[in-house]
Amino acid sequence: MWNYPTSLAHRGGGKLAPENTIAGLRCGLAHGFRAVEFDVMLARDSVPVVMHDPYLGRTVAGSGNVYNYDAAELVTMDAGNWFSAECRGETVPLFTQFVQFCKDHGIWMNIEIKPAPGFEEETGRVVGSLTRALFGIEIAQDNPRQVPLLSSFSPVALAAARLAAPDLPRALLLDRMDEGWQTQARELDVVAIHTNHKHLDEALAHQIKDAGYGLFCYTVNDPARAREILGWGVDAFCTDRIDLIGPDFAQAAI
Ligand code: G3P
Ligand code: MG
Repeated sequence: MWNYPTSLAHRGGGKLAPENTIAGLRCGLAHGFRAVEFDVMLARDSVPVVMHDPYLGRTVAGSGNVYNYDAAELVTMDAGNWFSAECRGETVPLFTQFVQFCKDHGIWMNIEIKPAPGFEEETGRVVGSLTRALFGIEIAQDNPRQVPLLSSFSPVALAAARLAAPDLPRALLLDRMDEGWQTQARELDVVAIHTNHKHLDEALAHQIKDAGYGLFCYTVNDPARAREILGWGVDAFCTDRIDLIGPDFAQAAI
């Protein structure tokens, strides 16, 4: 079962804005998106920030690991200049700030827990408990369109998030589906499988759906491919090409 939006802007604004920034969220909004996928990891002081890489250098100028810096330092760092001169001054967002922006603008969230190596349990626990605290009212109201979906490639992070926030839905991220996926999904009590569309075929899609899981794909940037996997029963996907694949693409494709 998939009770969530069907087309998500990957990392905020996909390839049209600096990833995992408030500017990315604004870009997604400008393209009509009210659903986003983004990445969260811990700073040195265990405060979650919105970043994809566990190290500086690609999207944030500097060197070292994200866990070498406190959140107060990271939020002063430029996360937009790598993308374009116009985006210079865009900074690394705190997780709480990012969530607040989404809430203020009615954006549904797929929160990808992205632990730096060695921080799997702590990241799952901290992000799970903080998310639970931030969404107490929405969880009580039990409206899936207002409660975020936690996902991770790390089973350890998901298990920790489950302990910290048993009432938040979880999804297991798998680049490739190996034979043990059903056991893992059952043990972690997830509602959905999030997988790389490049390794998915129709038979596998049916297997996942027949097992009762929601099926989400990353990162689908070709409209023809999006149409194809939707035809296999894929429920939803995220895209970097928010200019080519709109928020209502799935409904229009039916
Ligand atoms: O949510 C999954 C998607 O984001 C793929 O992983 O590496 O882009 O965070 P990544
Ligand atoms: Mg991600």
